[in-house]
Amino acid sequence: MPALDGLPGQSRTDRTIYIETYGCQMNVADSELIAGVLARGGYASVANPEHADIILLNTCAIRENAEQRVAQRVRHFISARENNSRVRIGLAGCMAQHHRDRLLNAIPGLDFVVGPDGYRRLAQLLDAEEPGTDVRLDRSETYQDIAPVRASGVRAWLTIMRGCNRFCTFCVVPYVRGRERSLPADVLIKEAHSIAAHGFREIVLLGQTVNAYNDGTTDFGALLRMMSDIDGIDRVRFTSPHPADMADSAIEAMRDCGKVSPYLHLPLQSGSDRILAAMDRGHTIDEYMRLVERLRIEIPDIALSTDIIVGYPGETEADFAATADLMDEVGYDHAFMFKYSRREGTRAEKVKETVSEQDKNARLQRLIAEQLTRATAINQKRIGHATEVLAEFPARKQKGWLSGKDPQFKTVVFEPKSTDVGRLVTVMIESAGPQTLLGREV
Ligand code: 5AD
Ligand code: SF4
Repeated sequence: MPALDGLPGQSRTDRTIYIETYGCQMNVADSELIAGVLARGGYASVANPEHADIILLNTCAIRENAEQRVAQRVRHFISARENNSRVRIGLAGCMAQHHRDRLLNAIPGLDFVVGPDGYRRLAQLLDAEEPGTDVRLDRSETYQDIAPVRASGVRAWLTIMRGCNRFCTFCVVPYVRGRERSLPADVLIKEAHSIAAHGFREIVLLGQTVNAYNDGTTDFGALLRMMSDIDGIDRVRFTSPHPADMADSAIEAMRDCGKVSPYLHLPLQSGSDRILAAMDRGHTIDEYMRLVERLRIEIPDIALSTDIIVGYPGETEADFAATADLMDEVGYDHAFMFKYSRREGTRAEKVKETVSEQDKNARLQRLIAEQLTRATAINQKRIGHATEVLAEFPARKQKGWLSGKDPQFKTVVFEPKSTDVGRLVTVMIESAGPQTLLGREV
């Protein structure tokens, strides 16, 4: 076979890569991008690390425990590697960017470290004799010319913007993913047509602050409208928006476009104005609640989810109680709840921690328990009502049943009339728990 990319005498066409992904949906999409970059270089993706020449862990740096998990896993791969094996093991993504070349010393046996803007040069890194790092951040890198290798299924991820300009005090993302940049709308629309042509039925638009999307002429609301005009795509979703970037044009597009799901992830972080200000979130509780109110008026069936951090430095019992109360007032369908984790390099790193691990745990457990009750009650209101489900895959527990998501992004497990997936199915809900609705196709 011919040498690729002009690398003398070396064929990569029969080499294989195994990618393991940690963290958020952006990383899932980035792993597909990495597979796309390497496919150009002749690498094939494999699902089993034992069959791989390259083992790459696409990592998350958002909290310390996310990094600890990856460190353990990569050490496992390194120790399982036989002597003289040519298998190369490396780290990509946010944790790689966060710790950069320090990682090569910290984890002996690691072969490469590549940050979120270095994937284009990954093949060179893999070809080098010596262990190496590529952690240059590039303000203009959008990978707009790279075709991702997408996993099959009904849902396709489409990254519309990268990076973040907000610098919330607790968050490492702007440091590891760099500044905000949007892909041109025409490139995205073309890619969306190709996604539809490949048989995907749902598109999920991705960005760190996805609703800050703006390519100079098209804003996020306009892009939502363009996406919902694409034949073959039944549903358009997006993650993760920022409350302060939720412009009227986006709300109106959600209201007007039947294909745009009535579901919004609206990170709150804290229900206390004092803590929100300390976090530099860019909005007050009052502004947030006015947004929720407006959303519920414009999109009455909207489901809301959120992110909450407990134990941010300075959080008192009263601040925490305000968070618990606000979660009740909003009535979130779902919440992702975290203990504050101090991250090197962030503004909050300099702020002394005041909440003990024990108190963080107690606060977290209380919110989790309350959310469980809340979500169960919300979901049980759906019993006796029909909903439209995009059938995705066979249910794990119930033989012959299917699982899919409804417009509010709830998991619905149902008895189908046909086991074909990729169909939009009307399901009558018969029972509900905190995570799942159960029913049958009608
Ligand atoms: N500690 C705990 N949670 C964090 N998040 C981001 N940074 C931290 C941190 N240092 C949470 C926020 C964010 C979500 C993606 O992760 O809630 O919205
Ligand atoms: Fe992090 Fe804030 Fe940017 Fe979200 S908006 S990625 S929390 S800095």
